[in-house]
Amino acid sequence: MPFPSPRAARLAGAAFLALAACQAQAADPIKVGFMLPYSGTYAALGTAIENGFKLYVQEQGGKLGGRDVEYFKVDDESNPAKGPENANRLIKRDKVDVVIGTVHSGVAMALAKAAKDSDTTLIVANAGADAITGPMCGPGIFRTSFTNWQPAYAMGPVAAGKGHKTAITVTWKYAAGDEAVAGFREGFEKSGGKVIKDLTVPFPNVEFQSVLTEIAASKPDMVFTFFAGGGAVKFVQDYAAAGLNKTIPLYGSGFLTDGTLQAQGDAAQGLLTTLHYADGLNTPRDQAFRADYSKAYKQTPDVYAVQGYDAAQLLQAGLKAVQGDVGKKADMRSAMRAATIDSPRGPFTLSAAGNPVQDIYLRKVEGLENKVVDVAVKKLADPARGCKL
Ligand code: PHB
Repeated sequence: MPFPSPRAARLAGAAFLALAACQAQAADPIKVGFMLPYSGTYAALGTAIENGFKLYVQEQGGKLGGRDVEYFKVDDESNPAKGPENANRLIKRDKVDVVIGTVHSGVAMALAKAAKDSDTTLIVANAGADAITGPMCGPGIFRTSFTNWQPAYAMGPVAAGKGHKTAITVTWKYAAGDEAVAGFREGFEKSGGKVIKDLTVPFPNVEFQSVLTEIAASKPDMVFTFFAGGGAVKFVQDYAAAGLNKTIPLYGSGFLTDGTLQAQGDAAQGLLTTLHYADGLNTPRDQAFRADYSKAYKQTPDVYAVQGYDAAQLLQAGLKAVQGDVGKKADMRSAMRAATIDSPRGPFTLSAAGNPVQDIYLRKVEGLENKVVDVAVKKLADPARGCKL
């Protein structure tokens, strides 16, 4: 056999290298970075998101898009000041293919900026910062949770429908609290109510005595609140200890009582909240998820676990469309944006801005459950103010 010409040999060599690179890529795991709080007031929320994500991956035989999954983790401590540095640990140091994060809105805005600057795909599995799917929206930015506006807005007509005319709001002073209060005000005042005072405490403080004294003195018809995690436990307990639960009904975005009921005990009984997940939905999809989650983690899932689970489902929709080839970013992202997610909360689609269009449930605390009472608003889409997509 004659020797190949040098040119033919070079071409054959290049073809071999390209094939080898392709095979290596298919054999390499997908690199998933979790930027979540594993310490502080939101620690339990971060763990539930990770658990939910991993449960879905396990259900797929440990693979997404036909490839193994390798996890990288950073504890963001819910500290916005460390946001850029923590995001870049995953993006620049670990070179992850996708980031799943985070819980705190302020940290999430730093993360979204780092993801956009590096064109890294980001799935926000909790933080509700309106800006992320508003002015900061982008083709690689997705959310499987909510905007802070969504559940809070839905409480407005519910509270007004109960005959309440005046409300005081109380929350932590940061984006999530401010935006939840703005959402509630919009829904409540459109329905004929009036917010007469906004009270705040710095995040993540849990010294509520002075705001409770002010509420007692002002005697509004009701109180609307945003607190979550450890802070929500303490607020609900302090509200009851002050006797206010007997005189001034307390309402909130459902984070107030999600993942917290064991610790809140009697103080939470009867509370009404609005959220995109509830106990007692009784759909086969939700029942299967709850059984699997309880078996894997020896605890019942909460809204954060659902959001993590759905982040994995959304990523799977994208990776399937490109047979695991994360290099095909545009195709992967269009498939993600077009997906219908078969969520335990009920199926949902994403808006053009990448945020779930979803039912918001009215729930009532009964024992250790946030029992579904009704759908407060069907298929509620965030207005995505400022998003140009
Ligand atoms: C947020 O900071 O956006 C946030 C944190 C905890 C929640 C909900 C929203 O439960």
